[in-house]
Amino acid sequence: YRVWVSEIMLQQTQVKTVIPYFDNFIAAFPTIKRLAAASEDEVLHRWTGLGYYSRARNLHKTAKIIDADMAGHFPDTAEALEQLPGIGRSTAAAIVAISMGVRAAILDGNVKRVLARYHAIGGWPGQSATLKALWQEAERYTPSARVEDYTQAMMDLGATLCSRTKPACERCPLQSSCLAFAQGTQGDYPGKKPKKTMPVKNTQMLVIENPDGELLLKKRPASGIWAGLWIFPQLEIGRDPAEFCRQELQLLVETHQALDNFRHTFSHYHLHINPVLIQLSKR
Ligand code: ADE
Ligand code: SF4
Repeated sequence: YRVWVSEIMLQQTQVKTVIPYFDNFIAAFPTIKRLAAASEDEVLHRWTGLGYYSRARNLHKTAKIIDADMAGHFPDTAEALEQLPGIGRSTAAAIVAISMGVRAAILDGNVKRVLARYHAIGGWPGQSATLKALWQEAERYTPSARVEDYTQAMMDLGATLCSRTKPACERCPLQSSCLAFAQGTQGDYPGKKPKKTMPVKNTQMLVIENPDGELLLKKRPASGIWAGLWIFPQLEIGRDPAEFCRQELQLLVETHQALDNFRHTFSHYHLHINPVLIQLSKR
């Protein structure tokens, strides 16, 4: 259970950021049963700040499935784990390898970089031919003995010495047989994703404060962006925030003031956010 939680947190987040969240999460939900019994709001609350919140929703869904449909028994093969929400091929393998010593090949972002450099495998790993070549190497190297050490070592090599920029090849145990090192082409691997220009969307966000200093939050729908999260009410650009408060929320506005704009980037678009601070009248 703990290895699963940590692997999910570590998917898009660095170890040093994850540690306090992990401790806090495990303290709140010490068992799968306790996680399954929690509300989605409680689970998201413990995840606040980690980002990529579908990880938390899927963790919760999976806990419920294991508790209700699998009699609380955590699956002990990568194939079974992969069927569950939010657990992909590499994560499933990492969980069974690290927690149970089951032989299963991992290929996360860090390991892709190590293998692409070591064998000078060109192309962007999002392309199926490149991915297939990388998986082939990953499968080939995965040992039956001490698979947990191999798995952790590969992840750590990618996270430390074989870093994205300026890899520390002079200290790397793979140096003498690394093709990219021999060619001085470490920077070419892995190949880059073809650039696409992402659309830009605009929105206003209303920071509505009552005379007691309380802020109004609205719960997002269960699907789509920020699903199930509590956020500031949004309003299309061009609409008058004070009028919106009066007409749609029946709130009396004392003052409103534009705050600094900023941009938030999702995987498939940029969102320009114009926050507006609205103070409500004492009446
Ligand atoms: N990233 C994903 N899994 C990891 C692990 N077990 N150790 C370090 N970084 C990781
Ligand atoms: Fe990475 Fe350099 Fe080691 Fe090759 S020698 S695996 S590029 S750190």
